Amino acid sequence: MSEHEALSASEFETLIAAAKSARENAHAAYSNFRVGAGLRATSGRIFGGCNVENATYGLTICAERVAIVKAISEGERGFDAISVVTDTDTMTPPCGACRQLIWEFCGDIPVIMSNLKGKTEVLQMRELFPKPFDSSHL
Ligand code: THU
Repeated sequence: MSEHEALSASEFETLIAAAKSARENAHAAYSNFRVGAGLRATSGRIFGGCNVENATYGLTICAERVAIVKAISEGERGFDAISVVTDTDTMTPPCGACRQLIWEFCGDIPVIMSNLKGKTEVLQMRELFPKPFDSSHL
């Protein structure tokens, strides 16, 4: 169990819908792999994010990190859950860089991975990122 209060099924659905909608704005001109994320702050506000690619591929920013940076820059500090939506048969987990950032700001929250056909899988950050480097090591 995480220290975060469990979200209701309808709150999960709302977060998935936010990720789907953010995905519509993906700039995935190079990979054509469109990703949407939804991040729920403890304030109740939901922040959407999409992947934003660049001709210099290394500057690409993932959907999850876009959502986190938007929320942090708006003053949010506590988070309940993050959703990720792609149009794939297997669910898309956050990449390593995103796991590090999610851990930094959100800790052990549920990561809700869904596709456009309505399939969903939920894993806790602890499962995805079992031995994180964080401020406790500094
Ligand atoms: N991507 C994300 O936005 N989030 C993920 O969880 C996995 C990967 C993006 C980065 C890049 O634009 C494209 O997907 C292909 O890697």
